[in-house]
Amino acid sequence: DTEALRARVREAIRSVPDFPKEGILFRDITPVLADAELFRAASALHHSHVADLAEQVDVIVGMESRGFLFGPILAQQLGAAFVPARKPGKLPAATVEERYALEYGENALQMHADAFAEGARVLVVDDLLATGGTAAATGRLIERLGGTVLAYLFLIELDFLNGREVLGGARVEAVLHF
Ligand code: PRP
Ligand code: ADE
Repeated sequence: DTEALRARVREAIRSVPDFPKEGILFRDITPVLADAELFRAASALHHSHVADLAEQVDVIVGMESRGFLFGPILAQQLGAAFVPARKPGKLPAATVEERYALEYGENALQMHADAFAEGARVLVVDDLLATGGTAAATGRLIERLGGTVLAYLFLIELDFLNGREVLGGARVEAVLHF
């Protein structure tokens, strides 16, 4: 059943101390990806958290790199477009950019300026919500392009970092909480 699968996915996540920096407990999803049954279960759980939005979602935005592992699967499940938000210098056409800080550093994300039509209803998908810096920057990009964020969806939320508080009261869903 669903709760048993949720527990199995949770148990498969590997916790690595002091990566990529001292004091960070890194939650590694690669053991989930490496098991077809668990990857399928994780994708099904992900989908179950936003199934009610199926009729409304036009676009899934996934953030490089780990948002690319889950976003396209969800886009296909929902019949929505997939649009990547990429690290700087990767997208070939005209872009918009937002800088941000995350749990262990800082960076920027870019999206193509013509990635979706104005007024698009967007679901943001990533593997993990930590401080929320990455997700908030993605939300800002989407709004600059004239889109509306319906919800943010994660496999994992690190509750102690209160990342959802920087997402402006938007709907936030997570399959697992640490
Ligand atoms: C990780 C993770 C999220 C982000 C969460 O990505 O996949 O995108 O950090 O942290 P935050 O909530 O504090 O912003 P990372 O930048 O390490 O890149 P990667 O996906 O390429 O590994
Ligand atoms: N991204 C930001 N913080 C993280 C963590 N603790 N584990 C894995 N990915 C992360």
